[in-house]
Amino acid sequence: MSAKVTVIDHPLIQHKLTLMRQTQTSTAKFRQLLKEIGMLLAYEVTRDLPLKYEQIETPIAKMNAPMLAAEKNMVIISIMRAGQGLLDSILELIPSARVGHIGLYRDPTTRMAIEYYFKVPQDIEQRDVLVVDPMLATGNSAVAAVDRLKEVNPKSIKFLCLLAAPEGLKHFHEQHPDVQIYTAAVDERLDEHGYIVPGLGDAGDRLYGTM
Ligand code: URA
Repeated sequence: MSAKVTVIDHPLIQHKLTLMRQTQTSTAKFRQLLKEIGMLLAYEVTRDLPLKYEQIETPIAKMNAPMLAAEKNMVIISIMRAGQGLLDSILELIPSARVGHIGLYRDPTTRMAIEYYFKVPQDIEQRDVLVVDPMLATGNSAVAAVDRLKEVNPKSIKFLCLLAAPEGLKHFHEQHPDVQIYTAAVDERLDEHGYIVPGLGDAGDRLYGTM
């Protein structure tokens, strides 16, 4: 595995991911599991957040205590619509983070990502960005999202997904070798329709019950 891909293989994540993959898992359960996994993934992705020390008082004594140095500096960018599930769970952990949205749809013939919406904080140049989308399949959406974000020049970019295909990882890193990807698993391959195999189906449909 490339140094640019971190597979977060914590047993709790792997267990919950297996439940998400199963066809019989209901929409409500799928949503709940994505929320739980999102928080666990966020825990790992934010491992290197800088800390500052502040004087506080406990009921017993004063102490110099660690706090996040730049909680508000982080921007979570959701690739609509399935990114919303991961975004919601990360915001539970980092409620002060700023949020951006990129709307992309996949042209059914070319499978290329077409942008229909882009809204990010105006001062993004001073912020660190985490792009979220549960499925890194062909990588076209991820590449298009990061292409577009680089135009507005954030301080740094990381990419978080739940499942990735080897083809998508390769494509992404050919275009963006500087962007670290975090994922819970790398599956076998893509099928002829661009779905991840074995995967979990269409993440957006399963999240919102639009199958
Ligand atoms: N998008 C999905 O939701 N699922 C896939 O398997 C591939 C792309």
